Amino acid sequence: MVQFSLPANSKVTKGKLFAAPAGAKRIKKFQVYRWNPDTPEVTPKIDTYEVDLDSCGPMVLDGLIKIKGEIDTTLTFRRSCREGVCGSCAMNIDGTNTLACTKAIDDVKGDVVKVYPLPHMPVVKDLVPDLTVAYKQYASIKPWLQSRTPAPAGKERLQSHEQRAELDGLWECVLCFCCTTSCPSYWWNGDKYLGPAVLLQAYRWLADSRDEATSERLDELEDPFKLYRCHTIMNCTKTCPKGLNPAKAIGQIKQMIVSRKHG
Ligand code: SF4
Ligand code: SF4
Ligand code: FES
Repeated sequence: MVQFSLPANSKVTKGKLFAAPAGAKRIKKFQVYRWNPDTPEVTPKIDTYEVDLDSCGPMVLDGLIKIKGEIDTTLTFRRSCREGVCGSCAMNIDGTNTLACTKAIDDVKGDVVKVYPLPHMPVVKDLVPDLTVAYKQYASIKPWLQSRTPAPAGKERLQSHEQRAELDGLWECVLCFCCTTSCPSYWWNGDKYLGPAVLLQAYRWLADSRDEATSERLDELEDPFKLYRCHTIMNCTKTCPKGLNPAKAIGQIKQMIVSRKHG
């Protein structure tokens, strides 16, 4: 498990306690990072919500939805699909970047669930990180099929089973940025280093047999900061909630650059 403490921008203070209703028997405390951009002069705080698990769904996201719906409507977080495919509920839970909708409350040992925004990102509010830079970096790798050869008339561009299999382990990425925000190289050079999520996506297009921009894509990536800030620390792969291996994808990009030099 990759352990993290607080987001880098945080000096936090103790906040309010929202006690469980009388008679609640199975209580879990959610300690949640709170920060409001409307009062930036107020130090971020940790509010504690006592949640009755007997009237709550099984996932950490269920707990947050219950808090927002029944205890404190001011709590802010992102979520959409509730089944691990949209990537929007990424946050730091119990010291690890993961998806709140696929993290079971019971998997958090003890009686406290600590919930913080993804680390080392500016915070929009509470658990919502500002991903503006990460999305710009994603756009910079041109994440779409680039092909000069026209598609066969009236047909799709076909792949063999083997060619299609090259995309396994890549297409499943939900762009949650759990990996990127767990990467020490990205923490220190996030303005220039593309980070593991974007590099895995870059490799997804390099590995696609239908794409014809390989050379241009590699030219763009062959840069001391964009790619070579990865020092194979492997936090990214350890934390990915989809079980993917961004560090391996980054290694494959480096290998492609070496191969073309000697090929
Ligand atoms: S392997 Fe590379 S991308 Fe992954 S955490 Fe380490 S430095 Fe970051
Ligand atoms: S590689 Fe994994 S952790 Fe990184 S953005 Fe994709 S799904 Fe999220
Ligand atoms: S809500 Fe979509 S991944 Fe969690």
